[in-house]
Amino acid sequence: MHEKVFILDFGSQTCQLIARRVRELNVFCEIIPHDTSVSDINVENLKAVILSGGPASVLDDDSPGIDENWLKLNLPVLGICYGMQLITKVLGGQVKRHRQGREYGPAVLEVDNPDELFAGLDRRLDVWMSHGDLVEVPPPGFEILAHTDDCRVAAIGNVEAKLFGVQFHPEVVHTPKGKDILANFLFRIAGCKGDWLMTDFINEQVSSIRERVGKDKVICGLSGGVDSSVTAAIINRAVGDQMVAVFVDNGLLRTGEVEQIREFFSKDYPLNLTIVDARREFLDALKGLTDPEQKRKAIGKTFIDIFRREAKKIGNVKYLAQGTLYPDVIESRSARGGPSVTIKSHHNVGGWPGELEFELIEPLRELFKDEVRQLGKELGLPEKLLNRQPFPGPGLAVRIIGEVNEQRLDILRQADAIVREEMENWPGYEGIWQSFAVLLPVKSVGVMGDERTYANTVVVRAVTSTDGMTADWARLPHDLLARISSRIINEVVGINRVVYDISSKPPSTIEWE
Ligand code: XMP
Repeated sequence: MHEKVFILDFGSQTCQLIARRVRELNVFCEIIPHDTSVSDINVENLKAVILSGGPASVLDDDSPGIDENWLKLNLPVLGICYGMQLITKVLGGQVKRHRQGREYGPAVLEVDNPDELFAGLDRRLDVWMSHGDLVEVPPPGFEILAHTDDCRVAAIGNVEAKLFGVQFHPEVVHTPKGKDILANFLFRIAGCKGDWLMTDFINEQVSSIRERVGKDKVICGLSGGVDSSVTAAIINRAVGDQMVAVFVDNGLLRTGEVEQIREFFSKDYPLNLTIVDARREFLDALKGLTDPEQKRKAIGKTFIDIFRREAKKIGNVKYLAQGTLYPDVIESRSARGGPSVTIKSHHNVGGWPGELEFELIEPLRELFKDEVRQLGKELGLPEKLLNRQPFPGPGLAVRIIGEVNEQRLDILRQADAIVREEMENWPGYEGIWQSFAVLLPVKSVGVMGDERTYANTVVVRAVTSTDGMTADWARLPHDLLARISSRIINEVVGINRVVYDISSKPPSTIEWE
C-alpha cells in the first residue's frame, strides 16, 4: 500500500491545487473534510497531514475546527494560511486581525531559519499572500522561521514536534519555490519516498479489477472523451472481452465522431465495442421540448433506458464502469457547504434513478484530469484523443437553444465543423479549454448579393479555463474570428449572422444550456 498524505479541507479554493502539487511530487494524497476525526479514518501508511487555507477566521466562534488528535499523532503537520492560524489557536498561540483588513498579493519572504522547510532555498523568496488574520504570537515551543515586511510571523515551526505553518500559499504558481517548500516538508521532514507512479498505478488497478470481476461481465459507457476512453482502456487491459464498451450514437454528436470512434476502437485500439444507433429515439424524446432542464432530463433518461437494454442483451452484466474523477468525488463533500446547488443536471450515469442494478467500477476516482491524461499516455492512447476538448454528455442538444430537430442539428453541425477546423489550425489552439458553435432561435435580417435574407444566428464560444469550474472568454485574434464568421455565413445555408460570446464563468456558464 502506498504511503499517503491527508489534506484537511477548510474550504480553500486552492485545496485541489495543494493536492495536485503533492501528487506531482509522486506522493499520494487525499483531501478529507476538516472535521474528520482521527478515529474515523484509516491512518495506516499516513506520512503527514496538511491543513489547507480557508475563507473563515479562527477568531470567529463558528469557524471550522479540527480534531486535535491530528496534532498528537506524532506525524508531521503543515498548516497553510488558515491551517497555520488554527494550529496557533489550538496550541495556545495568538492570532489577530490584519491591520489593513487583509493582505493580498505578492510579498518577499525573508527566511530566518534556513533549515527544514526552507532548506536549500534562497534566504529571500517571492511568495503569494492572501489572508485577513495574522499570527501574533506562535504557540509555546514554536519559533518564527520567516517573515515579510508586512507579516512578522510568516512561517512557524516546532522542529521537534514536526509541526509547521506558513502564512503564504506554497501551492500557487505565484510562489515560484512553493513546490520546493512542499518537497522539503514531504521528503525532508515527513520522510516520504515519493512512490506514487503511474505505471504502478496501472498494474495495481489491472490486477484489482481482474480479481474483482472474476468471470463476470462489465459494461462501460464510452463517449469518446478522455475519461471514458481511459476507463475503457484500463478495464480492457484487465478483463479483455469480458468488458463491452457501449457507444451510443444519440444523433447529438459532431461531424465525423461516430466514424472516428468506430475506426479507432476497432483498428488502432481494438476492444469489444458496440455502437448503438439511437438517433431516432433521442430525437423523439426531445420533440417539443425547449426548457433546458427538461431537455437534459429527457436525454439522461433515454441514455439509461438504452444502457439497461444493452446490458440485458449482453446478459449477466454485473459491473458498470465509469470515468468518475477525483474532483467529482470530493465536490459533494467540500467544506464550502456540502452538495452544491444544481445549476445544470449534468448527465452522467451516477445519476441513475432508483436502485442501481450494477456494481460500479471507477478506476479513475483517485485521479485528477492531468493524471488521467498521463495514464492514457502510458496505456498507449494517442495525444489527439487525450488532449480532446471536453464535450458535454447531452452533446449538441445543449448548444441548440430551443427545440432540437434534425434540420437545426444539421445547421449546427456544419457551423461547428468550421469552428473546429479553424481553431485546430490556429497555433494558439492548445491554450483553449473549449471552442464551439451555438445555434440561437433568433432570426435577423441580412443581405446577400442583392437579396434580403432572414436567417439564423450562430454564436461562437471559446473559453480558457483550468478545470471548467471558472472560465474566461478567449481573446481570439480578430482575423481568426473574421475567418470563422465569413466561412460560416458563406458555407452554411440558413445562417446570416455570427456573434462572439464575451461572457466569463461565473456569472455565465460555458455551455448555453
Ligand atoms: P458549464 O456549462 O456548467 O460546463 O459551465 C462546465 C463544463 O462541463 C461540461 N458539461 C458537461 N459535461 N455532461 C458532461 O459530461 C454534461 O451534462 C455537461 N454539461 C456541461 C461543459 O462542456 C464544460 O466543460
